[in-house]
Amino acid sequence: MKKWNSSTVRAAKGKMRLGCCTAYDACFARLADEAGVPVILVGDSMGNNVLGYETTLPVNMEDSVSAVAAVARGVKNAMVVGDMPFGSYQCGDDAAMANAVRLVKAGADAVKLEGGVRIAALVRRMTEAGIPVLGHVGMTPQSVNEYGGFKKQGKTRESANAIMADAKAIEAAGAFAITLECVPAELAAEITAALKVPTVGIGAGPECDAQWLVMHDLLGLNDSSPSFVKRYAELGDAARKAFSAYVREVAEGVFP
Ligand code: KIV
Repeated sequence: MKKWNSSTVRAAKGKMRLGCCTAYDACFARLADEAGVPVILVGDSMGNNVLGYETTLPVNMEDSVSAVAAVARGVKNAMVVGDMPFGSYQCGDDAAMANAVRLVKAGADAVKLEGGVRIAALVRRMTEAGIPVLGHVGMTPQSVNEYGGFKKQGKTRESANAIMADAKAIEAAGAFAITLECVPAELAAEITAALKVPTVGIGAGPECDAQWLVMHDLLGLNDSSPSFVKRYAELGDAARKAFSAYVREVAEGVFP
């Protein structure tokens, strides 16, 4: 099995639907890689899922670089995508380039940025510098303060048109794939049909070329998950039971 890269992911459009997920450390990245997950996103969702924040906004470059390096050490075949945290590419294009390079040097095979038309020139500069970019349009969690909460986007014709324009701008700028987050399934299907590059949906219906799930949702590590999620395991319950059996057995002198 060969390692996945931006060209093979791009070439999978129309041939194979890819089930992709996040991971934030070497242990879970290795398990996902061994199970055949083709693309692992070191998402800034580590903010909510690992670091205990309410949003992704506090995640910084140090958090991302160290998680990307850990995930890259854990995988053999999966492509590793490093998410650019809030503030790492809104602070001028030269600084954004330097931050993308840091993620690549830490082991990312590509970077992901949120936004459409307004960041298209930056995406072009990155792809021309040899840094593969995975776009992210629709509901972009780093804009939570602009939305006033995590709300589905693209529900009006005007907003749907704007998201279509964003996706086309990022494709034209050279992105090899585009995340569609929390948009109506019909809009995701229209965008998927309009683009030559694959769409990777999350809460965007079944017609996308590929899907993301946040690892903590997929494995049932969080107590609750968004309604579009399918929990493929309940590892949170299993971990709680194991911790409590351990505490009990030590107290009772059963272990060691
Ligand atoms: O950070 C993340 O996990 C993401 C996915 C929701 C695509 O951006």
